[in-house]
Amino acid sequence: MRRAFGASLPTDEELAVARETTEFDRTLAFFDGAEIVATAGIFTYEMTVPGGTLPCGGVTRVSVLTTHRRRGLLTAMMRRQLDDMHERGEPLAALYASEAPIYGRFGYGLGTYQAAVEIERSHAAFAKAVAGGGRLTMVDVPTGIREFTRVWEQARHKQPGMLTFDERWMRNQLADLELHREGSSPHYRVLYRDGDNPTGFAIYRIKMDWDASGPNGTLRLEMLVAATAEAYAALWRHVLDVDLMARVTAEMRPVEEPLRFLLADSRQPKTRIEDGVWLRLVDVAAALEGRRYAVDGRLTLRVRDALCPWNDGQYELLGGPGGAECKSNGGTPDLALDAADLAALYLGGNRFRTLFEAGRLEELRPGAIARADAMFATDRAPWCPSHF
Ligand SMILES: CC(C)(COP(=O)(O)OP(=O)(O)OC[C@H]1O[C@@H](n2cnc3c(N)ncnc32)[C@H](O)[C@@H]1OP(=O)(O)O)[C@@H](O)C(=O)NCCC(=O)NCCS
Repeated sequence: MRRAFGASLPTDEELAVARETTEFDRTLAFFDGAEIVATAGIFTYEMTVPGGTLPCGGVTRVSVLTTHRRRGLLTAMMRRQLDDMHERGEPLAALYASEAPIYGRFGYGLGTYQAAVEIERSHAAFAKAVAGGGRLTMVDVPTGIREFTRVWEQARHKQPGMLTFDERWMRNQLADLELHREGSSPHYRVLYRDGDNPTGFAIYRIKMDWDASGPNGTLRLEMLVAATAEAYAALWRHVLDVDLMARVTAEMRPVEEPLRFLLADSRQPKTRIEDGVWLRLVDVAAALEGRRYAVDGRLTLRVRDALCPWNDGQYELLGGPGGAECKSNGGTPDLALDAADLAALYLGGNRFRTLFEAGRLEELRPGAIARADAMFATDRAPWCPSHF
């Protein structure tokens, strides 16, 4: 895999860190003689969906050596993984794509977006003073592993698209491998506590630089997760107040970052939107039943899914804020669409109207798109803050 991505071979330390999260019974390799020529793996996660959580396979480490490309090895691994997730009853699959055109053919749709942001510190005053009586402290790695995981647990249930992140994963995040520093400092780990309760954390590095006018450093924010609005504002204020820095940069931030409205200069943060997680509905009926809907409504969907024939069919969805039911149904459909496009709509990160205007779905009963958009709407845009 490292060779396919043009990286050097892993060190013993990197292997030890990777081993803790690797699920060997869900790891695939193609061999040509003794040589590994293709790899893929799955992490066993739960994903927050609107109003609940569902088992989700996190597809990872997908690679095919250049000498063996375009012979169907990726296709074979995708087939094997979808069958495995279906047999286990994992209704969702998620992945980060190296290139956007690869995974649509396997039924993955663009389910979440993320933002890369940059804030000039000279324009980083808040419009109003930050309220809140909590306390910020720098913590060591063992405390970070324990307390940041507690924060994550509180935050994830409110945020569609967030995955489970237990102490193994936090240890992995805080391992602070040389590979990830790219010339910046080791990690700074900051915890926000409200009384005894940890409600937010930030992990960052700084990269010092000096020019003729003085310090010109960059603070690279790696992760900022908060379970309350107070913790969120206090951590951003902290990150924007680190001396000697000219700017703060961050990747994988939510597209609806409240920071813009905390800042007096709302032209900051300068933002670039990127694709986040690609989602696959491995079991359409279980996925549709597993989330809640903003308003009560009924929709009949014709879902096309050539790769997973168990999904291909027509569904009657009866859903609302209190629950959902999804059954096979033979009547006239309201909407017809591909499974990959339904996956792109599932977490509420895209609108049916947008995909309709791109010619991706058919409205077979007038008003169905407006009804679907009202039902699938969520109060937070989906966001996945962890990479895998
Ligand atoms: C992307 C990669 C895994 C594809 O593997 P592969 O074994 O060559 O793929 P397959 O032979 O199964 O290709 C299946 C189909 O996808 C298409 N495809 C594969 N890679 C593609 C790409 N990068 N862009 C567009 N289409 C692609 C193939 O053309 C083929 O289409 P066809 O069925 O119409 O002929 C491989 O090129 C690779 O390892 N790239 C570098 C690492 C990487 O990007 N990994 C993905 C991490 S998310």
